[in-house]
Amino acid sequence: MKNQKSKKGGFTSGLGFILAAAGSAIGLGNLWAFPYKTAKNGGAIFVLLYIACVLFIGAITMICEIFVGRRAQANPISAFKKVHKNLGWVGLIAIAVPTIIVCYYSVLGGYTVKFATNSFFGNADGLQAFASSSWQVILFTAIFMLLALTVVMAGVKGGIEKASKVLMPALFILLVAVVIFVLCLGEGVAEGLAYYLIPDFSKLSFSTILAAMGQAFYSLSLGMGAMIVYGSYTGKEINIVKSTGMICVFDTLVALLSGLAIFPAVFHFSAIAGVDTSTLNLNGIMLMFETLPKVFESIGFFGNIIEFFFFVMVAIAAVTSVISIMEVASQFVIQKFKISRKIATAAIALTTFAVAVPVSISLGHLLNGSSQMTILGMDWLSFLDTVTNTVLMPLCALLSCITVGWFIGPKQTLAELKADGNSFGKLETFVGVMIKFVVPALILLIEILGVIDLIFPQGAFSLNGLGVVLIAYGLFALLIGAYFLFLRNGETGTNADEIA
Ligand code: PHE
Repeated sequence: MKNQKSKKGGFTSGLGFILAAAGSAIGLGNLWAFPYKTAKNGGAIFVLLYIACVLFIGAITMICEIFVGRRAQANPISAFKKVHKNLGWVGLIAIAVPTIIVCYYSVLGGYTVKFATNSFFGNADGLQAFASSSWQVILFTAIFMLLALTVVMAGVKGGIEKASKVLMPALFILLVAVVIFVLCLGEGVAEGLAYYLIPDFSKLSFSTILAAMGQAFYSLSLGMGAMIVYGSYTGKEINIVKSTGMICVFDTLVALLSGLAIFPAVFHFSAIAGVDTSTLNLNGIMLMFETLPKVFESIGFFGNIIEFFFFVMVAIAAVTSVISIMEVASQFVIQKFKISRKIATAAIALTTFAVAVPVSISLGHLLNGSSQMTILGMDWLSFLDTVTNTVLMPLCALLSCITVGWFIGPKQTLAELKADGNSFGKLETFVGVMIKFVVPALILLIEILGVIDLIFPQGAFSLNGLGVVLIAYGLFALLIGAYFLFLRNGETGTNADEIA
């Protein structure tokens, strides 16, 4: 009975699951971080390193996360509790981290919605004007959150799966259309491709490898509860290993294609308008919201249409990612407090929105060159991003791997996977060693080097950096304490608790 009920609320097909998980994975990390990191870190070399990281570290971690959720058919706290009662706090961290991320990712999501709706009215000098108009940023953040909220409220089957089945193919078609258009622009295209992909072996260093690993983790939505939660909504009929393979392929493909659109477009613009590319900002938020709109709008009418396609695509990518992390907190609140999905999701959206408001105002100040509203020398968005991305996410992924590799154990894990039809064949021993030793060791390295870089950026001690690290680990300790005080002994619920 219980099983039937939980299945009713979960994904109905393997494809639904794959598209939803790909929706989580494909986000701003693919569309803007991957291309500029590739260009900065040696082009094709970085791409190869990245693919190796996805294959050997990312995919295995993803299998572990989906596996932990699937075998428990429950939220992350109950899932880790199932392994050992004293491990449930790992689940609490896997719920807290994505909830913090919702608060700032939604602000960027608001920007994407704004730029999509605005593409016909001219975005070119829009970034600063928009960023400094607090009410507008807050409004668009609210619109973006409402979009995600509507989907999450409709449930896993009726909302997340359904939306992913429409939105993910749409995203892919839009992306391919933009790439084809850009590659046909002629002048500048070859230079753009060269800038993006020509291998530069001199850039190959330890820190490049580290950058590739970090990017792979972020891009695959690991260490943020999403895969554990989506995994909990799958049954034995869904093959974890094959699904993971597909999710990784889609995620990498979209990241690669995105660069094929961005750099040729930028170099075309610089050739036509006689602008030196070295004067253009090709990093992160500026690349996306300042340079690219300028580039598209210089192309004229078709440029505006492509700009519209492009930002709708980015907005879709962002919304399907936020859906997955909103679901993490929703699932837990529904199951722990036995309340309806609608109320739980609305409460989470309201709470995260309350934090998103100061985040958006602080980002506005930053983009306008003011240093108002900073925490330890950073705007709120960068602060929350650093606390989660650099410190807590690798830690969370590491703890998940350790749980699987050491507490459940590779033998048991492989046997359970095999019983569900997931066989690694001859690779079994290799996968076992990876799960137990290699992957945890590499993630630990990412964590340690990330923290060192925060405290000693460019080799010099930074008090602010130390502050950020202390706050992140402080939060970590607080969450562990909260688990043992409030959650260890009580019921924390399972998927079967949700009234479908
Ligand atoms: N994989 C996502 C990306 O590439 C990371 C993410 C997932 C961020 C979910 C926020 C929410 O953008």
